[in-house]
Amino acid sequence: MPRPIEACIHSAALTHNLSRARDMAPDARLWAVVKANAYGHGLERVYEALRAADGFALLDLDEAQRLRHLGWRGPILLLEGVFEPRDLELCSRLGLWHVVHCEAQIDWLAAHKTHQPHRVFLKMNSGMNRLGFTPTAFRGAWARLNVLPQVDEISLVTHFSDADGPRGVDHQVATFEAATRDLPGERSLSNSAAILRHPGLRTDWVRAGILSYGSAPDHPEHDAAHWGLQPAMTLRSRLIGIQQLEPGDTVGYGSRFTAERAMRIGIVACGYADGYPRHAGTGTPVLVEGVRCGTVGRVSMDMLAVDLSPVPAAGLGSVVTLWGQGPAGSLLAIDEVAQAAGTIGYELMCAIAPRVPVVTD
Ligand SMILES: Cc1ncc(COP(=O)(O)O)c(C=O)c1O
Repeated sequence: MPRPIEACIHSAALTHNLSRARDMAPDARLWAVVKANAYGHGLERVYEALRAADGFALLDLDEAQRLRHLGWRGPILLLEGVFEPRDLELCSRLGLWHVVHCEAQIDWLAAHKTHQPHRVFLKMNSGMNRLGFTPTAFRGAWARLNVLPQVDEISLVTHFSDADGPRGVDHQVATFEAATRDLPGERSLSNSAAILRHPGLRTDWVRAGILSYGSAPDHPEHDAAHWGLQPAMTLRSRLIGIQQLEPGDTVGYGSRFTAERAMRIGIVACGYADGYPRHAGTGTPVLVEGVRCGTVGRVSMDMLAVDLSPVPAAGLGSVVTLWGQGPAGSLLAIDEVAQAAGTIGYELMCAIAPRVPVVTD
């Protein structure tokens, strides 16, 4: 028998979450952002559930090819554009739309031989300072693209740095609007946090990433339930050992936990080599048979320990939910586990290890 750990991808949750994005941005077209192998869920596993989107946005040409093999004929957008000139050949062949964020990408396009003009998304750096043309350089870049026979349609895109927090998006929207006021073309502004927290922005395309997977982009201010999102990934395992501790007994490497009273702990077949965060300290929430418990001691490579006090009936083989959907309608938000480990839900879902078997329902 294999180790009892598995991840489960919930198609119904993906569909539901995407429809939440539609509800929040009813007038915009919707990119399902599926970079990083659909945020760790697996492109092939999410495809059917997310194909209700108007397009897929991603980074890797390999992922774009996989989508075409799955039969997707609609728009695919390369969010970082091409990485070298010959990538443009595949864009022509597969009909990929691509972001243009720097002069070199325009040079490559100008030298590209194609009978198939490309749709491009010209990216403005409106304050994130990651990719894109500055507002002053933007118009010049647009003019260069506009005269290229290789370019069919130019859309305009920017990305928010603070849509999930108190600084918000107004300063970037103002910069973007001022620099693009008289430019034609469709706009794409909002990521998940902007879709949920700043509805009503003038944007023809929204880019729904994390919300599709059921994690709140602005946790802990709001949780997934607040936004009506459902977890699309469950990580579950079982108890493979039980220990009865006496006061003074310690647990795990470095003896980081000392029992103050007699207590039962369960040993779960899940460790950092499965993608569970090693920095999740004592007290990180875990469901045992759907009952909320807390971890004790350090997470090791293949195991972690749980205080079974809240669930005395638990024993060998009991079902443990590390995050996601537990038995009898119980839920444990990935964002809570991430918070306990000092990270975000994005990182945990992307980090599920290859050794973890994945099923879908
Ligand atoms: C350019 C761009 N658009 C959209 C997204 C989706 O963001 P989120 O997952 O927060 O919705 C990302 C993710 O990092 C991105 O880089």
